[in-house]
This record gives sequence, structure tokens and C-alpha cells, in this order.
Amino acid sequence: MCSIIGYEGRGEAAPLLVKGLQRMEYRGYDSAGVAILSQREISVRKGVGKVSEVNALVHMDELRGEVGIGHTRWATHGGVTEANAHPHLSNSGQIALVHNGIVTNYIELREELRSKGFSFNSQTDTEVIVNLLQLNFEETRDVKTAMMRTVATLKGNYSFAAVFPDGTLAAARFHEPLIVGISRDGYLVASDILGFVEQTDKVIYLDNREIITMKDGGQVICDFDGKPVRHELIRVSNEIADADKGEYVHYTLKEIFEQPASILRTAEKIAPEVARAAEMIESAKNLYITGSGSSFHAALVGKYLLSKFGGLNIEAIMASEAEFSPHHLDSESVMIAISQSGETADVLEAANWAKEKGARIISIVNKTSSSLAQMSSLTIGLGCGPEIGVAATKSFTSQLVVLYTIAGLLSGGTLSPRFDNLSRQMSEVLDNQTKIKALAEKLTGLSDIYILGMGANYSIASEAALKIKELAYVHAEALPGGELKHGPLALLDSNSYVVFLNPSDSTYSNVMTSAHEVKARGAKIIGISNRPSEIYDYWINLPSTEAEMFPLVEMIPMQLLAYYLAIHRNANPDYPRNLAKSVTVK
Ligand code: G6P
Repeated sequence: MCSIIGYEGRGEAAPLLVKGLQRMEYRGYDSAGVAILSQREISVRKGVGKVSEVNALVHMDELRGEVGIGHTRWATHGGVTEANAHPHLSNSGQIALVHNGIVTNYIELREELRSKGFSFNSQTDTEVIVNLLQLNFEETRDVKTAMMRTVATLKGNYSFAAVFPDGTLAAARFHEPLIVGISRDGYLVASDILGFVEQTDKVIYLDNREIITMKDGGQVICDFDGKPVRHELIRVSNEIADADKGEYVHYTLKEIFEQPASILRTAEKIAPEVARAAEMIESAKNLYITGSGSSFHAALVGKYLLSKFGGLNIEAIMASEAEFSPHHLDSESVMIAISQSGETADVLEAANWAKEKGARIISIVNKTSSSLAQMSSLTIGLGCGPEIGVAATKSFTSQLVVLYTIAGLLSGGTLSPRFDNLSRQMSEVLDNQTKIKALAEKLTGLSDIYILGMGANYSIASEAALKIKELAYVHAEALPGGELKHGPLALLDSNSYVVFLNPSDSTYSNVMTSAHEVKARGAKIIGISNRPSEIYDYWINLPSTEAEMFPLVEMIPMQLLAYYLAIHRNANPDYPRNLAKSVTVK
């Protein structure tokens, strides 16, 4: 999965495209490129690396011309090479194309095109689209018809944008995001609003099975059958605020530090939706909660909270495992689907699978215009602002705020989260980051680390381990305290480090027992706790909070530890290798 962008207007295309690509790099960043049309000639500049690296080498932003497209890649078909980087040109060199998604029938299409004399220069599925466009354009001399004929033969999920020799920019959407921006001097299309945030806040959200053609200051939208479509123009100023790094070195650090404010923003804005969600959840006969990555860890905390405080029987399913899970889904079932982006293919598939069986979907998303939101009976928007760092930080704590609030409503008064207190406690941890920074430096050479917790703290341990893997490339493993003696103890010796999530809640004494077992094997103990203890070799002090609320507070030192570990290990925390923020492929 990748990001695509296109511009058609009166300004210079290349600088806009390169800037937009930089903002969308979270979607993939192993190669980048642009194609610009000038006097009926298309020039392509592309290469392997991040946008800034490729630009430093081939000066993409210096190409001149008023129509163009651009791409950042996260390789699916074919290795990370210049030949596989987009844009791709058709055999005639007259059409250029960028693509996000997967064409599943590309092998058959490639054979068909080969039999008609076409040749291929890359291993991508993308090259078949651009050559089909050429074939169909040569036969019809009409961009819209060429687009319609081409999409009619494609299978899979995709969005793409293409530049035609007559100066038309055309784009199509099928189950991958594509948004149109209308600026003072032209039209833009992009995978995310962030791609054109500096140009305009006026947008059109294209639906699936739609094509847009833009030329000479005009645009036409139709569906895949050619029927004209009209869309409302939407202003999106709220969604695109805060997209800058500001004074911070990395988006990830900025987003970690935003949490005392972002959890309050979430808590304030969700009231009407969470009340409806609580009703739907309470009346459901079968209840499921799902997500991927960090959002799945939030789902695990949600399962704990809703069963403990709502007295509900709820099953947590990892989204990618949904189709293999035994289930009892029908029209009396509810699935809570959690996703920052609302575009994760595994989550969409799990939600679709539940919906087909008649279940209602409650989605918890940060992007309220996303595909997941569109297919839900009820959507709860996190409202924590754009999250650019690839690893989830503030969206995770906002997801927990939603789940705590729902559990609070269902608890009959036994759980009443005070998010204002939590916000202050998070700030306290952030103010004391020096100790965590120093600890991260000490741990720089580490190849393995264990994080132990029990109850809901085990779900936080899993999320912490994911953060350390993603950001610092250190093997990190979450351990449920009681399981230590059933296997993992065999791994520990005097070179091992174990982080204990050990707040003074109901898990405290059991976790202490595990700490003694670890100490007896000579391993080093890092205690994350509001209570000091001699057993800790390193102690990160947590502010005291209500027993049930520790998961939200203890996440902060773990995020900081992962971030600073990445810095000391010379990794770029905003763009972890091999990953992308929103994985829109299976
Ligand atoms: C990717 C990211 C993870 C993220 C997961 C789910 O794998 O690398 O950091 O947690 O997707 O993303 P979502 O947008 O569905 O929450």
C-alpha cells in the first residue's frame, strides 16, 4: 500500500506533489517518484528511498509543468527497486500512472497485453493498468471511455491516477481511498487530505466505483458505468489541523506529548455516540471486539473493561483471524471494530464478514470519513487529530478513553473515569522523561527485552512490546506474569532485562511474586510502578491514580522508552522500516 497524488491546474505541479508526498509518507516510504507533463511530453523522476532522499538525488521538484502525479511506495509486488517505483509509463511513453492497492488478475492481464505486443519493465501489477489505458485510449481517443474500459477488466482493490497526453488528469477509486481537493488554481487528488493540506480545505470524497477526469480548470465525476455523479463539497479544516511537527524533532514525539490534551479532546466529544453505543452493546446477544496491531491491544483492554464493569460476555478477535474464528454472528450480534485509519484491510474484512451475517458494527476510528466508518451502524470518532508517526501513540490512548467511557456507562457507577486527573498524571510522566531517556541509553545494545504485566496491564505490556519492536527493532515480548514459570523463565539469565508493569492495583502482589522469580535468575528488573521497591534495578515512578486507570498512565513511559531506544539505535521512529501506518492490503 502506497500513497498517490495528482495535480492539474495553473500552478507548477512538481513542488506541490513532492510536498504532498512527504506528508503522506506514513503510507509507505521505500521509494518515491513523480511524472510531469509539459508540452505533451511526460518526464519521470523516481528512485529508491524516502521522498527527501530521492529528491536530493533526482530533483523531482524541479520538473516544470502544470499537470502531474506522484507516488510513495510500500512494496507488495516486486522488490524495492527503481524499476518497480512509480510512476510507470505506458509502452508509448504517452501515459503515466501511479497506483495504490493490488490488481489480483494482473498475471492474466499481462499475458493478454503481451499477446498484443506490449512489453513490461517492472515486476509490479501496476504496469498492466497503464498499458490497458494506452490500449483503450488508442482505440477510443477518449479518456473517460478508456478509464471505464480499463476498470471493467481489473480485479482487486485499487485507486490510481494517470496523466494523458492531452493534459487530462484522470483517477479512479475502488476500495482504496481517494480524495479530491479543490484549490484556488486547480484540482488535486490524493490518498489522504494530508497530501494537499497546504493547498485547500475544500474536498470531495469520491465513493467506490467512481472516476474523475480533470482538464483545463474543469472536472467531471462519473461511476464505473459512465453515469454522472454529483458530490457535495466538504470543508475539512478540523480534520487537517495539527499536521505539523512544530517544535518537535519527530511526529512520534509530538504525538506522545499531545496525549494529556488529546485524551481530553476525545472524552469531551464522544458523549452522544458512546451513550448509543452502550445501549447497542447492552442489548446484543453476542458481542465481539476486533482490531489489528495497536487497535487490537485496545480491543483486549476493551474486552477486560466491558466484561468486568459491564458484566458482559465479549470475545476479542484479532481482525486477521476473524475468518478462522468460531462465531455466533446474527442480527442480534454487535461487533466493535477499532481502527485509527478505518482503512486496515484485515479490519474491514472482519467487519464485512460480521455484517454479512447480520451483525451491527460499532466502529471506533480516528478518520470518520473512512471505509470502516461508512459501513458501520454507529461510528465513534476519536477526534485526537491526525496521527502521522507510523506507530500508534495518541490514537491508542484515545481508543482507551472511548472504551473506558462505555464501560463506565455500563458499570452502574462502579467505574467513573476522571480523565482530567489522568491528563495531569500523564503530564507528570512526560515532565519526568529524563530518567526514561537515560534508561533507554543504557539499554541501547540490547537484543531482547521482556515486558511483564497481569490483567489489563498485560494488554499494555503487549502494546509496549509492539512499540519497542516497531520503533527500535529490538525483540520485545510481553509476558503474562503467571505464565513466567510455565516456560519463559528458561530464557532468563543475568543478561536479561524484564520490565514490570506493576501499579498498586489488584495485580500487584502476584506481579511481585514474578519479580522475585526473575530476580532469583539474576535478570535485571525495571519497575514501572507508583510504589518503590528494592527489587527494582531501575524504577520509573508512576503517579498514583485510581486502580483501574493505570493502563492509560503506564502506557506513556513505555512509549517514551520505545521512542528513545529508537533514537539511541539510530532508527527513525516516524518511519519504521518495512512498515506502513495504514495497511490496506491483506
Ligand atoms: C499497521 C500499523 C500499526 C497499526 C495497525 C492498525 O500495521 O503499522 O501501527 O496499529 O496498522 O492500524 P489501524 O489504522 O487499523 O488502527
